[in-house]
Amino acid sequence: MEILSTSDSDLEKAAAALAGGLLVAFPTETVYGLGADAFNPSAIARIFEAKNRPHFDPLIIHIAEMEALFRVINTAKLNDAAKERLSVLSQKLWPGPLTLILPKRNEIPGLATAGLPTAAVRFPSHPAAQKLILLSTGAIAAPSANPFGCLSPTRAEHVKAMLGEKADYIIDGGKTLVGIESTVLDLSRDPPRILRPGGTPREAIEALIGAVELSLPFLDKTQENNATPLSPGQLKSHYAPRTPLVLYRRGELASLTGLPGESREGREGREGRLFFTAPQNAAREDSAPGKSSPETRILSKTGDLREAAANLFDMLHELDSLGLHLIRAEEAPENGLGIAINDRLRRAADRG
Ligand code: TXA
Ligand code: MG
Repeated sequence: MEILSTSDSDLEKAAAALAGGLLVAFPTETVYGLGADAFNPSAIARIFEAKNRPHFDPLIIHIAEMEALFRVINTAKLNDAAKERLSVLSQKLWPGPLTLILPKRNEIPGLATAGLPTAAVRFPSHPAAQKLILLSTGAIAAPSANPFGCLSPTRAEHVKAMLGEKADYIIDGGKTLVGIESTVLDLSRDPPRILRPGGTPREAIEALIGAVELSLPFLDKTQENNATPLSPGQLKSHYAPRTPLVLYRRGELASLTGLPGESREGREGREGRLFFTAPQNAAREDSAPGKSSPETRILSKTGDLREAAANLFDMLHELDSLGLHLIRAEEAPENGLGIAINDRLRRAADRG
């Protein structure tokens, strides 16, 4: 494995590797992806091996110009309403953290879409991602560059630590800006449905195309009876740190004092706290002499949802690396990007 920069010559090297069927981890504005040429089935098979990802979980195909969209998806299979939605969303929200599910073309290997008749397509806004895609066949299949079920990577260092030699190259573009994965919107059905909340808030989509459905594993109890999730991103236990995580409602974490049976004698070691915003009334007990204070991180001191989303995986990776026995986190407000933040926190807290 070799670390590359985002210089033109390094991106050319990475594109040549993709053409040769190798795997290249690259930055996008959301999280790092582990890329393979979308038209090369054996390269795609290597992604599943590297991530230890079940073959029923389809990948996102990344494009960097609209012409490439029509080599991935088959618009002839869309009705007029769906065509109109695609046109509006792609003009207004691409490039950006929005993935669209649409009928696929035969040229896209079935392995990339887990045998589904649809493909997930996204036009990322990260300049290095765009350059890499344009230097390649124009379509890169890439899931997040983490082992299946683990926290998504927001830095090249996370990819290196989690995948190591399983990636042939890692392009280091620094910390990602959005920090949370794209919103996955199924445009192949009527009304469209959000299969995974993410970096594009539902409100931004609905302002353009009207009401969409939202399917969340933790809020939609009917999902529990489904043997196969609609989108494997709906698997409940996902995006999980190795350290056990307990989730609190907003405000409850700040008022925690004496926690029965835990941390009392320091036997279990230190714990971490992940606040959405600066706690108003931090428990005084934390600063009591002789007691180790918890490792505390604040997603956004001003309560800004964008900043909080950008810090979420980054701070979880950091807390997870400290050898803590427990992380206590609090929920974000349940609106805008807060929906995606809470979705990831609930999955991280679910050990089942
Ligand atoms: O921001 C992102 O979306 C990042 C960056 C790298 O682009 N990628 C990412 O990929 O998060 P991944 O593979 O971790 O998540 C893709 C999600 C999964 O939940 C998958 O089940 C869903 O998209 N998906 C892909 N194709 C689908 C399809 N045809 N129908 C329904 N869901 C699909
Ligand atoms: Mg993922």
